[in-house]
Amino acid sequence: MDERDEIRSRVDIVTLVSREVQLKRIGKNYQGLCPFHPDKRPSMTVNPETGRYRCWSCGASGDIFNWVMNRQNVEFIDALKILADDAGVVLSRGAERTDTKSHADTMTFARTFFREQLAQNLVAQDYCKRRGLDAETLEKWQIGYAPDMGEALVMALKKAGHSLVEAKSLFLVDQDPTGGFFDKFRGRLMFPIHNERGHVVAFGGRVIGTGQPKYINSSDTPLFRKSKILYGFFQARESIFRDRRAVLVEGYLDVIACHRAGVTNAVASLGTSATEDQAKLLRRWADAVTVLYDGDDAGQKATDRAIAVFRAEGLRVDVASLAAGDDPDTLLSREGAAAVEAAAQRTAPPVDFKLARLEATRPYSDPAFWDEAYRILAEAENELELDRHVLRLANHYPGIRDPVRAHAAMRNTVLRARRDMRAAARAKADRPDGEMRPGLKPGPARKVHEELHSAEIVILRALLSTTFRQSGWFFSRTTQYFLTGAAIEICQAVHRAFPTAPPQGEAWSWIAVLQPDSVRDSLEAIAHDVRGEHLSETYVKESFERLRRLTLNRRARANADSTEGRAKYIQHLMHLKPRPEDDGSEVPDDW
Ligand code: UTP
Ligand code: MN
Repeated sequence: MDERDEIRSRVDIVTLVSREVQLKRIGKNYQGLCPFHPDKRPSMTVNPETGRYRCWSCGASGDIFNWVMNRQNVEFIDALKILADDAGVVLSRGAERTDTKSHADTMTFARTFFREQLAQNLVAQDYCKRRGLDAETLEKWQIGYAPDMGEALVMALKKAGHSLVEAKSLFLVDQDPTGGFFDKFRGRLMFPIHNERGHVVAFGGRVIGTGQPKYINSSDTPLFRKSKILYGFFQARESIFRDRRAVLVEGYLDVIACHRAGVTNAVASLGTSATEDQAKLLRRWADAVTVLYDGDDAGQKATDRAIAVFRAEGLRVDVASLAAGDDPDTLLSREGAAAVEAAAQRTAPPVDFKLARLEATRPYSDPAFWDEAYRILAEAENELELDRHVLRLANHYPGIRDPVRAHAAMRNTVLRARRDMRAAARAKADRPDGEMRPGLKPGPARKVHEELHSAEIVILRALLSTTFRQSGWFFSRTTQYFLTGAAIEICQAVHRAFPTAPPQGEAWSWIAVLQPDSVRDSLEAIAHDVRGEHLSETYVKESFERLRRLTLNRRARANADSTEGRAKYIQHLMHLKPRPEDDGSEVPDDW
């Protein structure tokens, strides 16, 4: 029996599913609300005999591995690991695996130790009270205390039989020049940092009261890569997935304050600026990020970096602003939960945020103002956003009296700047060593889409456009009239990801979430297909009509092979009055 079957035999699908969905027994099967689409009546059936689930409404189905992959948004290999953990199956690639296991044990031991210490230390408890950390909060975030004794953890680890050498590699203890071990964290409030799966992989320790350094954080260890983890992600991920949005804050206590205030999709990037890996992690769960950094200078600079990093991964970014000197934690203690919630809601697009800051720091008469303004405007998401700003700023354009002329001049400058930036980005993306940027890659059309019918292309092009998105989304829902398997697969993938409303924003920002990858590739190729270049609502609608007629014709013709079908076919032809070219073969594009 291979590991996969071993796990399958040990994990009961009903138990697994009922962790998230309330199931009711109906005969041999179980039924519940399907979590993969908005479900009003129980559409999902779980069959303990076959070990599979299936939703007859949205079509989601699979076994325990698919369940974990879809619910936790992970790849197969991680689903395998997660379920192996559950089932107590030790995966092969032996040594590395047992090592990690004991690393994890040591970290969990330390967390428990710090928790026990907090329960015994009145000064630390008092500090928690002052910071508004009540019992429930301490429990949720597993906050503890590292005593100020030099080797308290060292002794405890030794007594419990944990290797101190290993504890050193995990940034829990260190050695003095004579080789004696001592605690890394002393006299600090301890914030465990959990990975995506809820295992503690690092700690942040805050000094009680004032002192330097304010925080000590685990450096990278065998279990922990700072750049890949977001503080609070484990606790926030359900909310993030539900809202398709994360709120990014700066510090441990800011994450906690946000969650206390009901902003439960808040995470923090651990005292560094946001990284590409963190953006990738969020991309798997969300479409958008609200950046809610401190109102000070450092916070504003970090905001700029965050905007760039997240947008490069195809996430929409909104900037929430705080007064200088505020962070979510101070805001919560001073003004309460509603103020934090309001702050997370009060957002501006990146361009507005950057222009407002520029306008606050430089006068319009300064040429540097305009250089910078052009750079910022070139990042506008779309023409509408661009025009909104250009119209306003044109009134301040120095030297030109005629605002209409100023408007045209600015617009041209911005568009030129944008072309340059795109060209530069493309050159960078095409470098063989560089990773491909997300985005609609130009280049030779790929094979898959060549087999698509031109009417299908038109509907998919509409879906990709921002103007005709609604129609494209609407028509692509009725896949029974589509002719090719490739088109049907694409439409299904889109509606799986966006079941209730069309995706928002430019195509490159949302096609990245579509699964499988081949769908994404096809859509990128379609975006560059010349067929369906000149869209209009009528063209889209007519294309759909054309598909419908073709399909009905084909079906009727297939039926006509049988005698009872022939009468129907003739009836059908009379009813439809098909155009002469609708014989299922290619039709000229200017149709
Ligand atoms: P802040 O200085 O804003 O601290 O650093 P804070 O989170 O608001 O904490 P309090 O409210 O003063 O207690 C923001 C984040 O930067 C990292 C930590 O992750 C911190 O939460 N940081 C800060 C460090 O790693 N080391 C430091 O010395 C300071
Ligand atoms: Mn703070």
